[in-house]
Amino acid sequence: AALTSLNTLGLTASAARFATVREHADLLQLLADATLRAQLWHVLGGGSNLVLPERVEGLTVQVAVPGRRLLREDDDAYYVAAGGGENWHDFVQWTLAQGWGGLENLSLIPGTVGAAPIQNIGAYGVEVKDRLFALTAWSLQDGAPRVFSNAECAFAYRDSIFKQAEAGRWLIAEVVFRLPKNAPLVTGYGDLQQEIAAQGLPLSHAGVAQAVMAVRRRKLPDPAQIGNAGSFFKNPIIAASQRDALLQQFPQLVSYPAGEGLAKLAAGWLIEQAGWKGRRLGPVGMYEKQALVLVNHGGAARADVAALTAAVQGDVAARFGVQLEAEPVWW
Ligand code: EPU
Repeated sequence: AALTSLNTLGLTASAARFATVREHADLLQLLADATLRAQLWHVLGGGSNLVLPERVEGLTVQVAVPGRRLLREDDDAYYVAAGGGENWHDFVQWTLAQGWGGLENLSLIPGTVGAAPIQNIGAYGVEVKDRLFALTAWSLQDGAPRVFSNAECAFAYRDSIFKQAEAGRWLIAEVVFRLPKNAPLVTGYGDLQQEIAAQGLPLSHAGVAQAVMAVRRRKLPDPAQIGNAGSFFKNPIIAASQRDALLQQFPQLVSYPAGEGLAKLAAGWLIEQAGWKGRRLGPVGMYEKQALVLVNHGGAARADVAALTAAVQGDVAARFGVQLEAEPVWW
């Protein structure tokens, strides 16, 4: 099966075997087949955080579990469940239309609800971990369901247990969000504040969603127009002492506090300074409006992405002594 249109980078790729899971019975049926069960399994969501090889061996399972509903409501919050296959952005807009705020800063992020916890998606001061109550995952070994509480997901910056100790073992079938009735508006991010002021947007959950969408549309390429996987590298976290030493040499360095004795650097700035903004290597390049986004100008495969990744990492390390880590998952 062709995967080229199922990954937002648009890398040329195909799956040796492919199946879609809409409900628990679909997974049990796949697992009942001894031949399939023995294969290496890959779980696919919206394909928006993936670097695919040209041929994906084994079985690729696309998660298409549907559904979104209010589970319960108490004095303080709405508990809202969504199937792992739901489109993330559509789900967020639906919650806002119901009058439930809290996810607006995460508007317009490509991908699915089930994939969101894996890398703990985040933008403009909010991460999925701030709103996730629990999730239900199905074992790829025997199909057994397991509930992971927020704490059990071991969330960190663009990271969770599903990228670490439990990688490759689960299909995330449903996610439950806790949306506080007094969810604060998170507008501290400079770009957002400017957008709200410039457009005269209302200070409401819907207004913040509007601002987020406007900022993203301006800075980030639409995967439907130009292949990309969002930020391609994580913003590196280094010792505050190293940041201070770098600041001596590069007074313009963009950094943020990242907890006791730590600092986070803007990888986009490092990449731009290393000369890669808008520059190409073969069919891929770093985006002209946001140097942290790797784009496919057409026809690229995994080897092209690997070459550019190594070139950017090498130049940034040579100039700043900082190692960049790729954000997407490589199959
Ligand atoms: N910058 C440059 N040149 C560039 C790009 C950025 O100098 O080409 C500097 C600027 O100073 C800018 C700063 O870097 O102010 C930060 O850039 P931006 O606001 O675009 O955010 P980011 O750190 O590049 C992160 C997330 C994004 C998220 C935004 C907003 C990561 C890896 N990326 O990007 O998440 O949308 O903040 O919160 O943490 C994603 O993970 O795929 C993603 C898009």
